[in-house]
Amino acid sequence: MTDLFSDLEMRGTTARNRVMVSPMCQYSCPDRDGVATEWHRQHLESRAVGGAGIVMTEATAVRPDGRISPQDLGLWSDAHADALRPITEFCEEYGALSAIQLAHAGHKGSKRPPWDDSEPLGPDGHGWIAPSPSADAYPWRAGDDERSDEPNAKRVETMSTSDVEALVEDFARAAERARDAGFDVAEVHAAHGYLLHEFLSPVTNRREDRYGGSFDARTRLVREVCERVRDVWPDDQAVFVRFSATDWLDDRESWTVDDTAALAADLASDGVVDLVDVSSGGLHPDQSIPSTGANYQVPYAERVGDAVGDDALVGAVGGITTPEQADAIVRNDRADLAIVGRQHLRDPYFALHAAEALDREDALEWPRQYRRAV
Ligand code: FNR
Repeated sequence: MTDLFSDLEMRGTTARNRVMVSPMCQYSCPDRDGVATEWHRQHLESRAVGGAGIVMTEATAVRPDGRISPQDLGLWSDAHADALRPITEFCEEYGALSAIQLAHAGHKGSKRPPWDDSEPLGPDGHGWIAPSPSADAYPWRAGDDERSDEPNAKRVETMSTSDVEALVEDFARAAERARDAGFDVAEVHAAHGYLLHEFLSPVTNRREDRYGGSFDARTRLVREVCERVRDVWPDDQAVFVRFSATDWLDDRESWTVDDTAALAADLASDGVVDLVDVSSGGLHPDQSIPSTGANYQVPYAERVGDAVGDDALVGAVGGITTPEQADAIVRNDRADLAIVGRQHLRDPYFALHAAEALDREDALEWPRQYRRAV
C-alpha cells in the first residue's frame, strides 16, 4: 500500500517520501535585490535535513515588479541563480529534491512585509507600479484588504498585450536559470490572487484582448507559461502548477473548482504539468471561507485528482499538521503528496518525526550527525 513514506516517482526523478515543504515567503532579502541570503539557505537546508522529500522555495519573482515585497526572492539574473545553487547542492547531498516556485505577484505586489502590516508601497517608497490584468478591477487597497474609494491608478497598471507576451518569456528565462542552478522541480504559481490567478478569474480579468473574456482566453496565459516552462525544463524532471481551486466567491461569477478541474485536466493530458498543487482563495477581500481547519482544501485536491486521472499527480495543502493526517491523505488516495506549510515552521524535522510516529524509521533515518540524540 502507498503511504507517506512511499517513493514518489515523477518522470525520471524520485522523491524519498510524500512530504513537501510548502512555499513560504521569508521577506528576508534586506538589500531589496531579490538575492538569496544565509536566512534562505538555512531555512530550506534545515528542512532537507529534516527529511522532507521535496523542499520548495518561497514564491520567487521572475522579474522585479513580480515581488510581493521588496524583500522577496527573485530570479531575474544569473547572480540570483548563483545565490540559490548552494541550496540545490545541499538538498541533493542530503536526499531531498529541491523545488522552486516561479511567481509574479501582479496587483497584490509592492507592499511591505507582513510584520510591517503589508502596507502598500508607492514607487517613491522602494515600491513599484504593480502590473494587473485589469487595474480597474482592483478597487481595494492591497495591504489591508479593505475596500477603498481611492483609485489605485497610481500604483496599479493594466498590462499591455505585448507586456503579457513578454511575461511568458520572463517565466521561461527564470526557469532556465532555476534549471542551471540545479533545481529538480519547477512550480508555476497560479494561485492566491497573484498575477496568473488574476488572469484566470473573471473577477479580476476584464481584458478585451486574447487574454481576457472566455475561459479559453482567461486561461491562455497560464497555459502559455506552463508550456514555456515545460519547454525549457529537463525532460526527466517535473513541472508543478499551484492553483487556487476556488475564489470562495460563490455569490458571483468567479473562478470555480470546475474551472480548476478543467484547466488541470487540460494541462495534464497534454503532458505539460506533472503535479497539480491544490490550494484556494486569496483573490478578493470578499472571499468567504467556511473553515480553515484540518484538511480544509483536501476535497478540492480529490476533485482535481478525479479530473486529471493518471495524467498527473495531485498535492494537497492546508491545515496538515500531524503525521497521521498526512499519512491518511496518501493512504486513502485523497492526494499523492502532503504539502506542509506552517507545521514545517514549527518543526523543521516534521518528516523525521513522522517516520517515528508512523513506525517507518526504516524509510527515513536521522542524519548521522544527529543520531546520538535519537
Ligand atoms: C505562505 N503561503 C505561500 N504560498 C505560496 O504559494 N507561495 C508563497 O510564497 C507563500 N508564502 C507563505 C508564507 C508564509 C509565512 C505562510 C504561513 C504561508 C501559503 C502556504 O504555502 C500554504 O499554502 C498555507 O500556509 C497553508 O498550508 P499550512 O500552513 O496550513 O500547512
